[in-house]
Parts: sequence; C-alpha cells; structure tokens
Amino acid sequence: MKDGELEIKLEETVNSFLENSKGKNIEIISHFDTDGITSASIIIQALKRLDQKFSLRIIKGLNKEIINSLSKEKIILFLDLASGSLKDIEERNLKKVYIIDHHEIDSKKIPSNVEIINPELTSKQKISSSGLTYLFCKKIDERNKDLAKLAVLGMIGDMLEKEIDELNNGILEESEILRKRGLTIYPSTRPLNRVLEFSSNPFIPGVTGNPKGVFELLREAGLNPEGGKYKNLIDLTEEEMERLVTSIVLRNPEKKHKDLIGDLFLLKFFGKLEDAREISAKINACSREGRPEAAIGFCLENLEYKKKAESIHTKYKQQLISGIKFAQDQKKINGKGYIILNAKDNIKDTMIGTISSILANSPDYEKGTVIIGMGYDGKEKIKVSGRNCGRKGRNLRELLSNVMESFNGEVGGHHSAAGCVLDIKDEEEFIERIKRELELEIVKIGEHQNL
Ligand code: C5P
Ligand code: C5P
Repeated sequence: MKDGELEIKLEETVNSFLENSKGKNIEIISHFDTDGITSASIIIQALKRLDQKFSLRIIKGLNKEIINSLSKEKIILFLDLASGSLKDIEERNLKKVYIIDHHEIDSKKIPSNVEIINPELTSKQKISSSGLTYLFCKKIDERNKDLAKLAVLGMIGDMLEKEIDELNNGILEESEILRKRGLTIYPSTRPLNRVLEFSSNPFIPGVTGNPKGVFELLREAGLNPEGGKYKNLIDLTEEEMERLVTSIVLRNPEKKHKDLIGDLFLLKFFGKLEDAREISAKINACSREGRPEAAIGFCLENLEYKKKAESIHTKYKQQLISGIKFAQDQKKINGKGYIILNAKDNIKDTMIGTISSILANSPDYEKGTVIIGMGYDGKEKIKVSGRNCGRKGRNLRELLSNVMESFNGEVGGHHSAAGCVLDIKDEEEFIERIKRELELEIVKIGEHQNL
C-alpha cells in the first residue's frame, strides 16, 4: 500500500540518521516560512532530548552558493527545501545528507549520499514538511508526540488544512487541537472589527484596510458592540455568524458561502486558547521580517519572544495591507489567462509571495488565471512568485523552470505555487520570455481541448 511506503521510508531513514549522527555535529538548514520554522522547532526539541549537538540556519531559499559553503565533515539535514537542488548537492560531495521535504523533485536520480523523505517520491500525499518532521521525530522517540501542535501550525501555514486525509488527521488528533466549524477569518479569538480590518483571505473590498467600511459592514449585519466592544468571532451565535457571512458574500460575490466556512483550529499556546491561523501568521511575519530567531523562540513558547513576535506581526500586517493596496492600484500586464505584477521595489521580496497568493484568492480573477508577482530583493535580484487562481491550471514549477533555463537563478515549488529568483539585469527579458511561455501554453491547452 502507498501509505506503507512512507512509513517504511521513515523507519529506514530514522535508523540511518540515528546511526550516522551519533556523537557528530548536525547542521540543520530550514526554510524561512511557517512550515520551515515549525519543522526546525520540532527537530531541535527532539535532538535536545537525544542530547545531540546541532547548529541551525534558516534561509529564504537554497542556492548553489549556500550548498558550496556547507561543511563536508558534518551531517547535513535539510528541512522544507532541497528537493529542487539535488544536482547541486551531488556536485558538492557532502559527507551525508538527509532531506525532509514536500516540494517537487527536480531529478530522478537521488545522489548516493542523500536520504530523502518526500511523499512526491512515494505516496504523493499532501502533507507539510512539519508533518513529515513530526512523524520522523515520533519514530525517534514516542515522547515527541507532544510536538504535534507545531506540525499542525506548519500545515496551516502551507494552507493544507483544507484537504485533511487520514495521515494528517492522525497528527491533528495527537495535537489535541480543538476543531470548530465557522468563518475562517482569523483570529477568531479577537474582537470582530479588528479581525475584519486585517482580513486578507478573503480580501473584502471596501472593508479590508478600511475601519469605516468595517463598521458599516458590521452595522449592516446587525452586529453591534456591547459595552464598547465587539464580540469575538468564536463567540457569535449561529445566527449572527450567518448574517456576517451573508454581508461578506455581498461584498465579494465571487466567494461562495461554502468558501468562507471551514474548520477553525484552536490550541493552547503560552497557556491561552489561540487561533492556530493567527499563531501561524505570527511565525511567518517574524521570519519574513528577517527575525527567524524570534519565530523559533515563539514556537518554543519562550516568553521573551512573545511580545517581540506580536510587535513584529503588527508591523508586518500594516505593510501587507499597504502592499495589497499597491497591487490593486498598480497597472499590471494583463494577458490572456495571466497577470504579471512587476512591483519592483514597492513590494518586498519577502512579501511578494503572500501578495500573489492574496491576488490569486481575490474575486477579481477567474479560476485558472496565472498570477506572476515580481519584487526586488535589494538592488541585484528579483523574487518571482507564481500562483494559480483556484489552484487549477498548469504546473507553475515546470513553467518557471522552462523560462529560467535561459537565466541564472533558482526555481522550485509546487504545481500551483512556485517561485524563482533572477538577476535584475534580466528583468525585461524575463518578462518577455514568460509572456511567450504563457501564451504558448494557452495555444497548447486550446489544441488539447479540440482533440
Ligand atoms: O514554501 P512553500 O511550499 O511552503 O509555499 C507555500 C505555498 O505553497 C502556499 O501558498 C501554499 O498554499 C502552497 N502549496 C501548494 N501545494 C502544496 C503545498 C503548498 O500549493 N502541496
Ligand atoms: O516564494 P514563493 O512563496 O512564491 O514560493 C512558492 C513555492 O515555491 C514555495 O513552496 C517555495 O518554497 C518554492 N520555491 C522554491 N525555490 C525558489 C523559490 C520558491 O522552492 N527559488
């Protein structure tokens, strides 16, 4: 059975990892998004239990330069990345490499010194890297079951909570998370007005980023403050929740009632019941603001980092809202079935992926439209993020890989969410190449449909 394959792979890799790493120093390299940070937080707690020496590096993305800087003496453990860099890893001739990841693999050939846990190779299950890291650590020691909630935060960070299968369900059960049906705008544990003002998924026209619009919507839904304070989402009655959802749908007709309703996940964090989506957003904000140590400290529930994470998140949310406004007002390249937003230095490289996801989720574009967002990373590089609206359409990792064959830079990702980095000097040529590629595909899809 397919699920069994992953199970066997986990077992084998854990055995090899424990044997090879005994008494050695492990260098962990993890990705800077919520899934990468939670993966790292899980493994470091498991390694501490083993009294194992390690060092940790959190990076935006893996490239040849980083690979070539790795020590040939150490055991290397990549989390939530590296599946797209197997060739570069092979060339570096490292001593022993472990990879726990869920991104698409770039090469059929796995180098002999590499052991990799990635469902893309076996069952193709949709699971976060933190989920895989958790399963890995549970095999090391059953006590690591207490780290399950971090795996759930990573899953939510990668928006994989919508299709929960048996494997993910098992992790959810072990995490002792409370699940409740409702409007998935977060944090459900805070007053409604603040929550709506910062709602980016869904983006509510006239309401997101507009406090006056928020009050109008709430009045219209018959939701009034009590004692000067609006209720928390989680405390609304079913009828109040219905009215609120109806008012949101009226402003965002593309969103169906059912798109807004889903599972809310509540978990104990720093001793208080919190909305998992909010915790996940805080982790993401810290890391993207260049403060991965705060993100990790926060995941480890270290009090020193609680306030820091909160203030970084507040600043990040404001930047995000102004980025969304920029993206809406800015002239875009409007092709047949695709949109290119070249934000240059108006949207940071660390935010362009999130903004592209928000555009892909907005009611303005048809399902299957490809969104290409571009933002500068300082003066030399451009970060490109590709997203499929409605997660339908063509394989964006393949699309970007094809285009990037003509340029210097790294590519990676999934079918409907992929990214790459290129030199600023190639900006215009890249846009021309990607336009050609996208238009070519439309022709191909058209031909295919005619068959
Ligand atoms: O860095 P990374 O994988 O984790 O990027 C996360 C992005 O990829 C999110 O936008 C998430 O929705 C998307 N994703 C996806 N398919 C997957 C996993 C993640 O589209 N299987
Ligand atoms: O950065 P962005 O959110 O657009 O990335 C989308 C997906 O592509 C993520 O899963 C990310 O990890 C992956 N990616 C990658 N290599 C890159 C850029 C993005 O694997 N150079």
